[in-house]
Amino acid sequence: MFGSKKKPTTQIDQEQLALIKNAQKRIKQKKRLYYHLVIFIIGSAILVLLNVVLGFGNNVTLFGTQWFVWAVLAWLFLFVFHVFDVYITNKFMGKDWEAKQLERLVGQQELRIEKLKQKFLEQETKIAKEQAKAELENTVKPEIIDRSSLSLIVAAAENNVIGKDNQLIWHLSDDLKRFKKLTSGHHIIMGRKTFESFPKPLPNRTHVVITRQKNYKAPKGVIVVHNMKEAVSVATLSDANPYVIGGGEIYKQAFPFATKIELTRVHHEFEGDTYFPEIDTKDWKETANEFHPKDNKHEYEFSFITYERV
Ligand SMILES: NC(=O)c1ccc[n+]([C@@H]2O[C@H](COP(=O)([O-])OP(=O)(O)OC[C@H]3O[C@@H](n4cnc5c(N)ncnc54)[C@H](OP(=O)(O)O)[C@@H]3O)[C@@H](O)[C@H]2O)c1
Repeated sequence: MFGSKKKPTTQIDQEQLALIKNAQKRIKQKKRLYYHLVIFIIGSAILVLLNVVLGFGNNVTLFGTQWFVWAVLAWLFLFVFHVFDVYITNKFMGKDWEAKQLERLVGQQELRIEKLKQKFLEQETKIAKEQAKAELENTVKPEIIDRSSLSLIVAAAENNVIGKDNQLIWHLSDDLKRFKKLTSGHHIIMGRKTFESFPKPLPNRTHVVITRQKNYKAPKGVIVVHNMKEAVSVATLSDANPYVIGGGEIYKQAFPFATKIELTRVHHEFEGDTYFPEIDTKDWKETANEFHPKDNKHEYEFSFITYERV
């Protein structure tokens, strides 16, 4: 009901169309050549008539030859050129010839583009390899760190949130006391952002701050390093148990190499922007757990949990 019959359309093959057009063009060219021949014969006869019969310009000569001879010769030259144009140039250097030339040029360009692509790929690969090498040099390899020497110390909510807007979210005085007790006298490794969240360096601890900024200015006594490997090397030089104290980026990078986690689990969920990695109990064994209830000084319940790597 909604269908309509299509009108049959005449499909002319594009190649045939081109052949027809070319044949029409050739006919026109040959016709023009024929007219040229006729005009040339009549014109030459008129010139001869003018000079020989009517004596027109009888005294005009060039190299001792009458002018009409030169005029006829010049015209003949033009006619020969016309013949050449029709039978040689247009026949052998026509559309086909142009298409072949174009095809050859396109082929050459494609080859050049392919070579450029190849060169570009080689350069890309080289750059990627160099970047990978540089990253590898900046990454801490598990086997080069003495695992017995690296502890993470952190306070994390039930949903693993550890901070918001570069600040801690809760204030738990007993947690701060424990942090002070455990870290005092040790090297504490931290990210530049955590360091800047302190009003001033913490007393009785050696700060090792990791930053990518080559000219980072820190107060006297603070050690500035540019990758985790350097931080651990510096800290373990004179300390058997340095602590990684955060924040999120640094915990994540140090996590695979740590042997101990001193976790304060705050029994509440918070909104935040920084997280501690999930502790997989396949890799970590709980070796101590001390619950702390809510009280006047502590708004939330929490537990001090120690994990050691299995
Ligand atoms: N609850 C907790 O126990 C606890 C503990 C500590 C911190 N926090 C919280 O965590 C948040 C901060 O953590 P965050 O993840 O935003 O920052 P972060 O880990 O403290 O510091 C990140 C910075 O460290 C430097 N860095 C990181 N990886 C590096 C590498 N491989 N090489 C060289 N430099 C590197 C970079 O410094 P540059 O930008 O200078 O290059 C980067 O911006 C805050 O909210 C803080 O309060 C919570």
